[in-house]
Amino acid sequence: MPTTAPTPATFDVDRVRQDFPALRQEVYEDTPLVYLDNAATSQKPESVIDRLNRYYRSENSNVHRGVHRLSQNATDAYEEAREAVRSYINAAATEQVIFTGGTTESINLVANTYGQRLEAGDEIVITEMEHHANIVPWQMLRDTRGIRLKVVPISDDGVLDLDALNDALTDRTRLVSVVHISNALGTVNPVEDIVDLAHDRGIPVLVDGAQSVPHGPIDVQRIGADFYCFSGHKMCGPTGIGVLYGRREMLESLPPYQGGGDMIEEVTFEKTTYADLPHRLEAGTPNIADAIALGTAARYMEELDPEAVGTHEADLLAYATERVRSIDGLRVIGTAPNKASVLSMAFEDLHPYDVGTILDRLGIAVRTGHHCTQPLMQRLGLPGTLRASFAFYNTRDDADALVDALETATTMLR
Ligand SMILES: Cc1ncc(COP(=O)(O)O)c(C=O)c1O
Repeated sequence: MPTTAPTPATFDVDRVRQDFPALRQEVYEDTPLVYLDNAATSQKPESVIDRLNRYYRSENSNVHRGVHRLSQNATDAYEEAREAVRSYINAAATEQVIFTGGTTESINLVANTYGQRLEAGDEIVITEMEHHANIVPWQMLRDTRGIRLKVVPISDDGVLDLDALNDALTDRTRLVSVVHISNALGTVNPVEDIVDLAHDRGIPVLVDGAQSVPHGPIDVQRIGADFYCFSGHKMCGPTGIGVLYGRREMLESLPPYQGGGDMIEEVTFEKTTYADLPHRLEAGTPNIADAIALGTAARYMEELDPEAVGTHEADLLAYATERVRSIDGLRVIGTAPNKASVLSMAFEDLHPYDVGTILDRLGIAVRTGHHCTQPLMQRLGLPGTLRASFAFYNTRDDADALVDALETATTMLR
């Protein structure tokens, strides 16, 4: 019997774009916005904007403490958002979803709690492609506790050296902390393999998932990491809200992070006992509205067909990469075989900032600079790159507009 090739998943990008009001605007006169700075932050669908509005208009109240109806409704909505996030990342239980301010706070939470048990000479392993959020908190621990920070190298293509990572693990290694998808290169790291390598030696793993959750649901149980951190604003949610997921035993073993209301069971002047997860790690009035709207964003993203999103984003990356390669003196930075839709570029003779400034006048929003990965730029010998990052709501037309604008900019500057 002849085998039939699977039908490629189709994705109605024109339909999806209608959900995003910010995409329908002109940034200068007669210059429509082409938004290609999604790795910095995503645009928000109408449903998320409406959810924030509805909360403040008719539900605003504090959670977990009021006997009144409004507070009970707000509490239900806040906890339902936790469930929406749990489902999006396939955590085993809602208690394993801790709301934080974002990826940065999630990593700092781990550094300030798990980090308390580390001693001088203990080691933390990171990689050359980390965002500052996964470097600086560990450097601060190095300064206060005398730990050692080991950095695993990458190849010139932007591929992590797994053998070197394996060699870096010793009986003093207390944590491997690694980015899932590089925001500067797009490299997708084999986090499941990294978790296996580390767990074989009893070493916990933290994964910085800031750039993976924008591309569709993930499965933290399959990945198996001890901690998984991400930000709401990169996955269609609001700013100021993010998540620390943790394996239950790991979270339960952490000392409290901040002290205050909501995280306690009982307080006397002599002694305080703490609440159970997740509240023990969420002191004070939480970011209720943004958490609720993050829940809406997670549901929105979960409803997209992940296979179709993957195919669409891969097509955009391949199409844009091929087209920009025809531009004189332009080099693609980050050519790992397994890449997300992040296209970093450098120019032989032009500064990325100058090119980015002209692109802006042509309506193209990209990021230029070091992308909070200064050590990575130093490793690559670059002052920075010009980065176009594609989301599921981008189109081939956006890629064409980028290429046209790059051609204009390079001609003008040369
Ligand atoms: C890979 C990575 N990690 C961490 C962060 C920090 O995220 P936030 O600023 O939302 O805390 C970012 C943001 O760009 C990122 O791309």
